[in-house]
Amino acid sequence: MKLLVTGGSGFVGSNFIRYQLATHPDVQIVNLDKLTYAGNPANLFDVENDSRYRFVKGDIADEAVVDAILSDGDFDAIINYAAESHVDRSILDPKAFLTTAVFGVHTLLEAVRKYQIPRFVQISTDEVFGAIMEGETDEFAAFEPRSPYSAAKAASDHLVASYWHTYQTPVVMTHAANMYGPYHYPEKLIPLFITNLMEGKKVPVYGDGMQIREWLHTEDHARAIDLVLRQGMLGQVYNIGTGERMPNIEITKLLLGLLEKDESSIEYVKDRPGHDRRYALNSQKIRRELGWEPQISFTNGLEQTVAWYKQHEDWWKPIKSGEFEKYYKQQYGL
Ligand code: NAD
Ligand code: DAU
Repeated sequence: MKLLVTGGSGFVGSNFIRYQLATHPDVQIVNLDKLTYAGNPANLFDVENDSRYRFVKGDIADEAVVDAILSDGDFDAIINYAAESHVDRSILDPKAFLTTAVFGVHTLLEAVRKYQIPRFVQISTDEVFGAIMEGETDEFAAFEPRSPYSAAKAASDHLVASYWHTYQTPVVMTHAANMYGPYHYPEKLIPLFITNLMEGKKVPVYGDGMQIREWLHTEDHARAIDLVLRQGMLGQVYNIGTGERMPNIEITKLLLGLLEKDESSIEYVKDRPGHDRRYALNSQKIRRELGWEPQISFTNGLEQTVAWYKQHEDWWKPIKSGEFEKYYKQQYGL
C-alpha cells in the first residue's frame, strides 16, 4: 500500500507512520509536512533511513508540491493529519488554522479528484461537536464548534463531506478524543504538566480544573486509523474514543503522584476563553463495524508516558527552551 501522510511530523501523524512501518512490511509512505513549530523531524529520526519512507517539506495548500508528489503515481490513499492543533494558539491568532483547514484541505480534495486517489482519510476531532454537558455524541450529532480551532476543523469536515455528496470523492472521516503519548508537543496539558513538574515548575490549571476530557493513547488511535484506512466504508464517519473521562484536576493529581510532587505545585490560572466544559464520544460504531478496541488503559498509558518523558529529555528540552518560550510568555505572561 502506498500512502501520502500529511502532517506526519507532528505528534499524532508521527505515531501513525511509526505504527504503519512496524506493522505492514509492504507499506510505502510519503510524509508531506510544512514543519511548523509543531512539526519536528526528531519525531521520526528512528525511521528516516527506512527505504519505505520519504519526507517532503511543503504546505498542503501548495498545489505544485501536492501535484509533484501525486503525479509520481500509484497512491492508494491520503491520510490528512495536517492542521494547526492547539486551541490556545487559535485564540491568540486564528489565521493559520483557517488557511490550512480550508485552503489546505481543498487543495488535497482537488488532488484526490485529479489523480483518482482511491481513498482520502480526514483526521478530525471531538471538539467539532462543542461542549457536551451530558450524554455522548455519536457520528450524527450536529457540529457546534466554539473555538477558532474547532471551527476551522469543522470547516474542513464540512468541505470533505461536501466532496463526497457532490463529486462522490472517496472520503472517510474520523473524530477522535484527546490523545496523549510519546512525542506530544509540550504545550498541551499532559506533556506540559509532566515536563513542568520535572523542571520543578508549577502547573497552570485553567479555571476550576473541572473541565472533562476523554483520553485516548496515540497508539490506540493509530490502530483505529489503520482499520479505517483498510476497512472503513467510504462516505462514513467514525468516532474514536475510550469512554475514559476525567476532570483536568484529577489528571493533575495523578501526575503529581507519578512525579512525587504535592499540591503546592498547582497554580490555578485564569480560564481559557470559551473553554468547553466536557467532551464525550459515543464510539460504538467503530467497535461494532471494524472491531476496534482500545488496548491501553489511561492509568497504564499515563505511567508509560511519564516514563517516556523521563527518558527523552533530549527530545523535549530543546523544544521548551526554543520557540515554545515565546508562546509560553504570551499565554501565561510569565
Ligand atoms: P501537531 O500540531 O502535533 O501536528 C500537526 C502537524 O501538521 C505538524 O507536523 C505541522 O508541521 C503539520 N502542518 C500544519 N500545517 C500544515 C500545512 N499547511 N501543510 C503541511 N503540514 C502542516 O498536531 P497533532 O496533535 O499531531 O494533530 C494531528 C491531527 O489530529 C490534527 O488534524 C488534529 O486536529 C487531529 N486530532 C488531534 C488530537 C489530539 O489530541 N492531539 C485529537 C483529535 C484529533
Ligand atoms: O479533544 C481533542 C482535542 O484535544 C484535539 O482536537 C486538539 O488538537 C488537542 O489540542 C486537544 O485539545 P484540548 O484543548 O482539549 O487539549 P489541551 O491539552 O490544550 O487541554 C486539555 C484540557 O486541559 C483543557 O480543558 C484545557 C486544560 N489545560 C490545558 C493547558 C495547556 C489547563 O488546564 N492548563 C494548561 O496549561
